[in-house]
Amino acid sequence: MSPTDDGDPPGSVARESDAVLDAAPLPGEDQVDASLRPSALADFIGQDRVRRQLELVLAGARQRGQAADHVLLSGPPGLGKTTLAAIVAAEVGAAFRATSGPAVERPGDLAAILTGLEPGDVLFVDEVHRLPRTVEEVLYPAMEDFKLDIVVGKGPGARSIRLDLPRFTLVGATTRTGLISSPLRDRFGFAAQLEHYEPDELLAIVTRSARLLGVDVGDDGAYEIASRSRGTPRIANRLLRRVRDFAEVEGDGAIDRAVARAALEVFDVDELGLDRLDRRVLEAVVDRFGGGPVGLSTLATTVAEESDTLEDAVEPFLLRCGLLQRTPRGRVATAGAFAHLGRAVPTVGSVVPPSTPGAVPLFDDSEGDPPR
Ligand SMILES: Nc1ncnc2c1ncn2[C@@H]1O[C@H](COP(=O)(O)OP(=O)(O)O)[C@@H](O)[C@H]1O
Ligand SMILES: [Mg+2]
Repeated sequence: MSPTDDGDPPGSVARESDAVLDAAPLPGEDQVDASLRPSALADFIGQDRVRRQLELVLAGARQRGQAADHVLLSGPPGLGKTTLAAIVAAEVGAAFRATSGPAVERPGDLAAILTGLEPGDVLFVDEVHRLPRTVEEVLYPAMEDFKLDIVVGKGPGARSIRLDLPRFTLVGATTRTGLISSPLRDRFGFAAQLEHYEPDELLAIVTRSARLLGVDVGDDGAYEIASRSRGTPRIANRLLRRVRDFAEVEGDGAIDRAVARAALEVFDVDELGLDRLDRRVLEAVVDRFGGGPVGLSTLATTVAEESDTLEDAVEPFLLRCGLLQRTPRGRVATAGAFAHLGRAVPTVGSVVPPSTPGAVPLFDDSEGDPPR
């Protein structure tokens, strides 16, 4: 099998069947997402630690009759950042206004948003790490002192005036805390990191969504969907909708384990929630490189994908599943990967058991490039 004759052309991004496992919202999905969002903290499933902390932050604000501290939510796409931001507003009975980093292009755009706020309002800035630097600088005094500095006029006659803003709560969301500049990060009174969900939490989410959508799903069917959702509620909800399609077209609409399995097979989602590209990558490491180590760029060429795609979209989940490891010499398949692909686990060689994170294989491979 040559690297290029087994699938998509190099650099292709639109993989129909793989898109069901992309944690970012698909076009038009926002509406569906919104209809499935819990609106109270008590209905928000999982993330127990964050929920408890947020409960205290919000209860404190309510007791004092003041706007809550600014809140920063970080975590991968689809884990509930937008949902939690809306909950913050609902829990304190405030209006929810939403924008995003890339949408606020100039300081004037932000000034217009800030001067339109009412006391107590919650301003949600999605992808807050993508605010332009000039806009960020306007945000600092607004967050800290509820002041807005604006420059009136141009040239030598220009002067700066300082306006009072109502006390508001900024809720920022980002996919990675590390992407946020430290002056901005420091101005959030409360920062929470969302983690991937456990299967039983996803089971509760699928069951809840099914109830809201009027889908007839048994526990075993819901569990089958939950366990293939890559720890991500948005994916769980999406797989539920795809399985519902299958159940309605091929059966009577009811979802049990067999229906869920058959449907997920049609959509190329395997037992662990791997899609075709994930499996191709894993198969390349196992079958073509004897389990590795193999360098990222070599691997990318083998599966005819961009290195960035592998690093951002494929590797994190394989690492989290314990199927792949990054070592100084390159990527290495674990014994779990051999087992998942149904290959015999080699007794000698480069295979690192899942229980030894970061272990370095015994033999050298000149092709391996160090993990970035
Ligand atoms: N803890 C949760 N309980 C129930 N549903 C959730 C939870 N977290 C996320 N969801 C659902 O997953 C979808 C994506 O959540 P969202 O808040 O848009 O994620 P993010 O903003 O982090 O990308 C929404 O439809 C939401 O209803
Ligand atoms: Mg969001």
